[in-house]
Amino acid sequence: MFVVTGASSGIGRAVTVALAERDQSVLAVARDSNRLSQLAVQFSRVTALASDLLTTEGVRQVVDACAAHGSLAGIVHAAGTLIEPQAFGAIDTGVLLDEMRVHVMAPIELNQRLRAQLSRIVFLDSYSSNDLRVGWAAYSIVKAAAQMAARSAAEELRDVQVIRAFPGAVRTPLVDAVLNSPADSPTRRTFRALQSTGKLHPPDEIGEWIARLLLDTSDEELAARPTWQYGESF
Ligand SMILES: NC(=O)c1ccc[n+]([C@@H]2O[C@H](COP(=O)([O-])OP(=O)(O)OC[C@H]3O[C@@H](n4cnc5c(N)ncnc54)[C@H](OP(=O)(O)O)[C@@H]3O)[C@@H](O)[C@H]2O)c1
Repeated sequence: MFVVTGASSGIGRAVTVALAERDQSVLAVARDSNRLSQLAVQFSRVTALASDLLTTEGVRQVVDACAAHGSLAGIVHAAGTLIEPQAFGAIDTGVLLDEMRVHVMAPIELNQRLRAQLSRIVFLDSYSSNDLRVGWAAYSIVKAAAQMAARSAAEELRDVQVIRAFPGAVRTPLVDAVLNSPADSPTRRTFRALQSTGKLHPPDEIGEWIARLLLDTSDEELAARPTWQYGESF
């Protein structure tokens, strides 16, 4: 069984669908039980688990749901949204703290508590962790912390394959909201430029790519590359 967090939307949902279409069992984790139930109805191999990874209880629910399964084929950490762009001087530190919890702390805790069962761990990495872009400070700060967690996991968890996957820009709901917003902004211009040059990827392509990394790539191939970038592999 695979565990996919953030399975109700965007990349996590697409990974869940791609794995289920390849006859893999998936524990699909997110808060929105309606959207998760739709997946479980569509795919008999998908089990829905409505949990809030902002909370200790939510993390415990995932660990408990995995207890009966013995070994796990892998976990994909896709929970956590693209934080809405905001000026550095106006960063909502409450939102920042919550997103640190979901993007960084929950994956660390899940990796620790499921480690004995896990074979592969996927982190969704982002160029925002290194790029300085006006309006994106909050998201970049969170993704930089998540990247260091992923790099540390890759370095220190020797008995697990850690996959740092850079999907590039993916057309998920928040990206759509920015694209369709009436107000001009640097972010809207960036996304529109990516869209017009075909660099805004559909989530289902990214889901299939992650499924190939998990199912079709040997331990030796994974160990040979520190990062995987969509469009540069397969
Ligand atoms: N989109 C991109 O261009 C892009 C590029 C590089 C990396 N990434 C990374 O890929 C990951 C997924 O991004 P996305 O664009 O697919 O976002 P998305 O469409 O907004 O999906 C985010 C998912 O996280 C879940 N989630 C949010 N808060 C949660 C919580 N407290 N507990 C449990 N689940 C929670 C949401 O479900 P509920 O609301 O139902 O809980 C949803 O399923 C993120 O780590 C993002 O940084 C995205």
